[in-house]
Amino acid sequence: MKVLIACEYSGRVREAFRAKGHDAWSCDILDSDDNSKYHIKGSALDILDDNWDLMIAHPPCTYLTNSGVRWLHERPERWAQLDDGAEFFSKLLNADIPKIAVENPIMHKYAVERIGRKHDFCLQPYEHGEPHSKKTCFWLKGLSKFGPTNIIDRSQVSQSCWKLPPSKDRWKLRSTTYLGVAKAMAEAWG
Ligand SMILES: C[S@@+](CC[C@H](N)C(=O)[O-])C[C@H]1O[C@@H](n2cnc3c(N)ncnc32)[C@H](O)[C@@H]1O
Repeated sequence: MKVLIACEYSGRVREAFRAKGHDAWSCDILDSDDNSKYHIKGSALDILDDNWDLMIAHPPCTYLTNSGVRWLHERPERWAQLDDGAEFFSKLLNADIPKIAVENPIMHKYAVERIGRKHDFCLQPYEHGEPHSKKTCFWLKGLSKFGPTNIIDRSQVSQSCWKLPPSKDRWKLRSTTYLGVAKAMAEAWG
């Protein structure tokens, strides 16, 4: 399949699909971390019509998720940023591609209202061989949800991604897809 991994700088989902023999490409406005020749630097919106069979998208969640909802009431400019974030998310979810999965954390009700529906399913990294907790939700088109592939004992699981100390790269460390989750997506949808 010709596979687009939109909003991905890490290349982790791209490489999981390539390992299964797919013609997979990542796209981000940032450079790819692995300098891959299979990375397209630019806006994913500009390449949505390039005859993809499957797209997995990881759009920014800053203005859409529960963890940021209180700022909407404290910083009025956040409402316009929410509108922009929801519009970008909806353009990805409604793209003319047969199979689509768009990923984000749990959304607050104002984002759900704008996008028009809740997620189809959620997973946890500790259900896919990673000793971390970070609820991750998917909105699907033409794809089915999948279950745990390798459950880690809860006593081994950390919330480490939320507890990282402030740093220049903290947002990246928090938003990079876990390898076990990337592999599970490629197994299920590849
Ligand atoms: C939450 S991060 C996802 C990171 C991903 N999980 C990974 O492992 O690389 C969201 C990404 O969306 C990218 N982004 C924002 N606007 C974009 C656009 N118009 N087209 C492509 N990528 C975009 C950001 O640069 C950021 O890297």
